[in-house]
Amino acid sequence: MTMIEKFSQLNKENKAILATNFYNFETLKGVLLAAKQTKSSIILQLTQSSIDYMGLEIAVNMARTALKYYQVEGWLHLDHGASVQLAKRCLDAGFDSVMYDGSELPLSENIKNTRQVVEYAEHYNANVEAELGYIPKLGQNTNKKGYTEVNDAIKFVKETGINSLAVAIGTVHGFYKGTPKLNFERLKEIKKAVKIPLVLHGGSGIPDADLKMAVANGINKINVATEIKNIFTKTIKQELNKSDEIDLRKTFPPSIDAITNLISKKILTINN
Ligand code: 13P
Repeated sequence: MTMIEKFSQLNKENKAILATNFYNFETLKGVLLAAKQTKSSIILQLTQSSIDYMGLEIAVNMARTALKYYQVEGWLHLDHGASVQLAKRCLDAGFDSVMYDGSELPLSENIKNTRQVVEYAEHYNANVEAELGYIPKLGQNTNKKGYTEVNDAIKFVKETGINSLAVAIGTVHGFYKGTPKLNFERLKEIKKAVKIPLVLHGGSGIPDADLKMAVANGINKINVATEIKNIFTKTIKQELNKSDEIDLRKTFPPSIDAITNLISKKILTINN
């Protein structure tokens, strides 16, 4: 099943899939074991920095081989592609789905660039995600608001032909300072207007009830990254402090288990 077909199914059934970023073999293994345990499919995401860190070919081959090895249905997605060129490079490398993120550009420029990615992706039958509105990235101002405007969304979807849209409804990337407050009214309005699969960025730290509410109101993909990095690093620190063990095949597994627990719970939350 292609990513586009999967999204179409999720959209019809009012369901969502979890999309997890991975950074190395250990984080990849952790999320795939969670998908396997919960008998769920998953989207594996790479950002430009993860691609630069691992190398594009290594990251793609590792993800594909691991999906096969763990017998998990999954798709490979570029997260926050900042240029048309990067999106094309990932499509050429065999990604199932790419995000072109022109959310900080004027609408007309975002439309023009996104359209180019959509046209290129059509040769591969690949999914294209784009973003409208302000979802603060790490280090950006989290007090500033910039919800996705319904009229912009209608125009954007029509003129670009994108398959899925990331919406700004009050989430932020990274951990939240206070309790996140999501604008479900805006989400409902956008969904009613554009009808295509919608994506929630900034999934880390959102209470379970809000994640469920987001799915009930039109979200079909939930991105989680920060909580994975956080639990991985914290667990390793704890392990290293416990003893002088230097064998990383002994110090890493508790971190992999911690990711598997975290992601299994998230999958169960958004599926039930
Ligand atoms: P978090 O890092 O807040 O989980 O957000 C992930 C994300 O949206 C990746 O695009």
